[in-house]
Amino acid sequence: MIRENQFEADLADLRVLVVDDEEDIRLGLGKLVSRLGADVFVAADGKEALKHVRDSGVDLVMTDLMMPRMGGQELLVAVKELSPETPVVILTGFGTIQAAVASLQAGAAHFMIKPFDNEEVQLLISRLGRQVLARRASSARASTDGPDLIAVDPVMQRVLKLIESVAPSPVPVLIEGASGTGKEVIARTIHAMSAVADKPFMAVNAAALPDTLLESELFGHKRGAFTGADRDRKGIFREAEGGTVFLDEVASMSPSFQGKLLRVLQEKRVRSLGSGRDESVEFRLVAATNRNLEAMFKNGGFREDLFYRLGVVRVHLPPLKNRAGDILPLAVRFLDSAAKTCLSPGARTPELSRAAVDALHQHSWPGNVRELENAIHRAVIVCKSDSIETHHLGLAENTWGGEHEPDEGIAYNEGKQMAIDRFQREFIQRALEAAEGNVSRASERCGLTRAAFQRIMRQHGIEREQFRKP
Ligand SMILES: Nc1ncnc2c1ncn2[C@@H]1O[C@H](COP(=O)(O)OP(=O)(O)OP(=O)(O)O)[C@@H](O)[C@H]1O
Ligand SMILES: [Mg+2]
Repeated sequence: MIRENQFEADLADLRVLVVDDEEDIRLGLGKLVSRLGADVFVAADGKEALKHVRDSGVDLVMTDLMMPRMGGQELLVAVKELSPETPVVILTGFGTIQAAVASLQAGAAHFMIKPFDNEEVQLLISRLGRQVLARRASSARASTDGPDLIAVDPVMQRVLKLIESVAPSPVPVLIEGASGTGKEVIARTIHAMSAVADKPFMAVNAAALPDTLLESELFGHKRGAFTGADRDRKGIFREAEGGTVFLDEVASMSPSFQGKLLRVLQEKRVRSLGSGRDESVEFRLVAATNRNLEAMFKNGGFREDLFYRLGVVRVHLPPLKNRAGDILPLAVRFLDSAAKTCLSPGARTPELSRAAVDALHQHSWPGNVRELENAIHRAVIVCKSDSIETHHLGLAENTWGGEHEPDEGIAYNEGKQMAIDRFQREFIQRALEAAEGNVSRASERCGLTRAAFQRIMRQHGIEREQFRKP
């Protein structure tokens, strides 16, 4: 169902090529896309399409897979060779996961399964189209490319739309989301889409540092301001030089530090430790939290005035299980990058089996995108064949609880890895339970550094909130 005017016709100057051997589909898609304001061209097979790409150039290709003369997969490879930046969307009538996965691995931007939902087609094309136009517009500037964000699911497309609309103005943004949902990636994307993309992006984690260190990190210090301060330090607010400061885990800031930060935001001036005078600073603040700040200020755990100042715009990142459409595209991306870093050059990247894809969709992903990234990484390491099977993924629900015996016939190394995973998870959870969610205390007790402890927590999607006593 198309609601008129839901998508502004803002894709003027975008050249879209629709390739399908069925005339009805060419016409139908062509009409949908031209309503977005784009110029539409059509071709009935890969050969004709390729000629068009070579002779006239296009900005975006939508192609069927099965066509006479030259199919969509071959066209995809040829287009990527000619112009790697051009997004190619695969239209498949068969819905075969394997073909779709293969097309994503070969560089397709997305795949859509027929019959299409008109609204979804328009959403996708307007998103990809706007990216192409934005890239074109910014190629004149010294462009700092943002992280390659995957946001295919409609839920994430709405997030993307929101950040696209707020990125250009300097308003503060508060990103809220559970651990591993991609808060930092979103912060970097906001920066990359902003008017200050060519200036620095500086990240500070408020939970990692005690008050004084946090203060000197952000505000700077003069030599001799405290023991160990053996030279002047400018501080991140000044080092950002008009760029973006990403302040992560803001809920961990002490009340006194919250007050100091509020003053900086109000006055846009900082005073470094040990200095007698204020200096003016220019930066855009993006903050992130995995806790509910609103609930915190209602209980007196966070300053209300600071909450409103940080959260002029709030971006909420949903848990991965609520954006199922992103699971496969993310998995394929992680598969590619894990293969690049873990396999020897020239080695074949294994493919996800049908069962593994199903398992990815059934898992609840308590650790969100990060957990998915770890699962794929692990699978690439332990999988010794061309096909990644479910047990290679080591998903917590398969290894945790001990109800499921490991599959018969799994390799020794895999079994060992599963046992290690189970041990780590159990151990860290018990330590957190004993320390009532206090990570410093828990890590100290079991003789791990805080950073190592947190790394294992993230790996298993464990959140300290679960262990806090009310
Ligand atoms: N939409 C996405 N597209 C591509 N990669 C993503 C996306 N979301 C997350 N990632 C990847 O997943 C990992 C976790 O993301 P990120 O560090 O941004 O999460 P986070 O919410 O800041 O996590 P934490 O709460 O643990 O700090 C990173 O490696 C990141 O690159
Ligand atoms: Mg983070």
